[in-house]
Amino acid sequence: MGEQQFSATSLQGKFIVFDGPDGSGKSTQITRFVEWCRGQGLTVKEVREPGGTSIGEQIREVLLATKNVEMTLPCEMLLYMASRAQLMEQEVIPAIERGEIVVADRFISATLVYQGYAGGLPVHWIEQVGEVALQEKWPDLTIIFDVDGETASRRLNPLLDRMELKGQTFHKKVREGFLALAENEPEKYAVIDSTAPIDAVEEGVHALVQERFCSSFSSK
Ligand code: TMP
Repeated sequence: MGEQQFSATSLQGKFIVFDGPDGSGKSTQITRFVEWCRGQGLTVKEVREPGGTSIGEQIREVLLATKNVEMTLPCEMLLYMASRAQLMEQEVIPAIERGEIVVADRFISATLVYQGYAGGLPVHWIEQVGEVALQEKWPDLTIIFDVDGETASRRLNPLLDRMELKGQTFHKKVREGFLALAENEPEKYAVIDSTAPIDAVEEGVHALVQERFCSSFSSK
């Protein structure tokens, strides 16, 4: 059976986000996708949120520390955005300008869902602060790795962080929020069933990226 090959040039300068509920398996898929891109000769900038810079990693520690139970929702949202603002200016925007493909493990989609849809902050507040952090560089595509709650909790590290400890009702809303984002803006988002075996999910990612970005491709 022929494996479809992407035209490397059509992915240059693209900004692709992998997001989804905790335990969705997105990080495994990022590792595979980045390896695959590099195998195609692409230069990849791989980043994660919160984090991805020295300042961002310090903010990540504050955000995820289980001792920070008193953190308010606006404070939480602003810290995620602060990490993002630093990441955009220091890593993402320069990489896009160099023509690299940027692959991010989470992005503003996560804030819209965790702090907005599930947390209860007005979405327009998040979008307004997002304008400051993103400097108009919205992702070209956000892939949502969808997973049911039971499968997700089986995949999680038993040492849960502050966000993972928020409980089942919250995480059910998180899943709904991601699906709602994708439904409302199908040109910016795509959903992949992440309960499928790892190889099948990876093939789904390749098919999706090709469909969205590659006008021409060859088969081998
Ligand atoms: P991670 O487990 O994928 O590294 O993400 C860390 C946690 O932070 C995860 O539970 C999702 C959460 N999160 C938000 O609540 N808002 C955000 O904006 C981001 C980027 C992550």
